Amino acid sequence: MARVKVLLTGATGYIGGTVLSSLLASQSHHIRDISFTVLVRRQEQADKLVSSRVTPLIFSGLDDLELLERVASEHDVVIHTASGFHTASAEALIAGLRKRSADSYYIHTSGTWNLSEASLADLDKDDIIKLEEELQAQRPFSQRATDLRVMSTVAGSRVKAHIIMPPDIYGYGTGPFAKTTPQIEDMARDALKHGQAAYIRNEDGIVGYVHVTDLAALYVVLLDRLLDGDEGVSASGGIYFCSAGTHRWQETTERIGEVGSRSSHLISAVTKAISIDEAAERWSGGNVRDVRMGYCSRFNTKPDKAMDLGWRPRKDQRDWLAWIETSFQAALKSQENDK
Ligand SMILES: NC(=O)c1ccc[n+]([C@@H]2O[C@H](COP(=O)([O-])OP(=O)(O)OC[C@H]3O[C@@H](n4cnc5c(N)ncnc54)[C@H](OP(=O)(O)O)[C@@H]3O)[C@@H](O)[C@H]2O)c1
Repeated sequence: MARVKVLLTGATGYIGGTVLSSLLASQSHHIRDISFTVLVRRQEQADKLVSSRVTPLIFSGLDDLELLERVASEHDVVIHTASGFHTASAEALIAGLRKRSADSYYIHTSGTWNLSEASLADLDKDDIIKLEEELQAQRPFSQRATDLRVMSTVAGSRVKAHIIMPPDIYGYGTGPFAKTTPQIEDMARDALKHGQAAYIRNEDGIVGYVHVTDLAALYVVLLDRLLDGDEGVSASGGIYFCSAGTHRWQETTERIGEVGSRSSHLISAVTKAISIDEAAERWSGGNVRDVRMGYCSRFNTKPDKAMDLGWRPRKDQRDWLAWIETSFQAALKSQENDK
């Protein structure tokens, strides 16, 4: 069989970099001979990524739809990790794959924020795409719009779409560029700025988490199963959840308070209840909806479909709790560097 060609976007990013390094490390006989094309924006990124199995291609960005379509048409698989919010790039990549005469696979990166406005009962539904349609009809959201466009663009074609929907992601990435995502470090920085960690009054946000290397392992398992020709997997498509556990935001901020007061960097271990408007000002440039989606939702997305593929997260609650401490130390360091 000809060498499988995979196109990856976002290889310099947190998720994409970790996905690429995990794929390159995979010993699966379906994956170890794959050659990858990675789309990057700068020469120095290309210089760092190039290898015997990785061919970087410099492009102007996700708005170069003509290039995305053409390059995708030259690959068997596209893994899009650059953005879950950029609908036009997802469409263009799928349009490229649609030009191929054989079956091809499109693996998309989305996020559970898309479901933050759903009820807990809704999340037990089997058809998450339908749930996204219902939510979208009530209140449009761009990352959700992209998922829906992905599914409608592959309909009736030989392109099979698989959407990976991570919850909050944590841990050090293994790619050569972006190593972390800022969420917890930003919370710690905010606590340092105000002398006390804060949570949103009268809200009890509970959301999932997954370590970035466990998330990347799901892309590897999924690709392996697709290339193995597993009809059940390729035909089912759809959405894959990958929560390895859940955290309560209030407890997470309490831990920041504990870590900070233990080292005398915060005035108190006691956390402060603030209004949602104040939280939006402090954490999200005044965007109340973003804060509501990120910190006030209560949900647990169960990774049953990922587990059916054989995916098993290796990191657990201890790693998550240790990450809060690591993020606090990183915030402290960046505060000291800013002085
Ligand atoms: N991080 C999380 O906690 C999280 C959680 C759930 C879902 N997600 C989803 O995952 C996506 C990626 O997250 P991430 O944390 O990996 O992001 P990231 O670390 O910021 O990486 C983004 C990657 O995409 C590239 N990129 C972004 N915009 C681009 C554009 N307009 N043109 C070309 N390349 C572009 C960046 O290239 P440069 O290096 O050139 O900037 C980088 O390689 C998010 O958009 C979201 O939908 C993320």
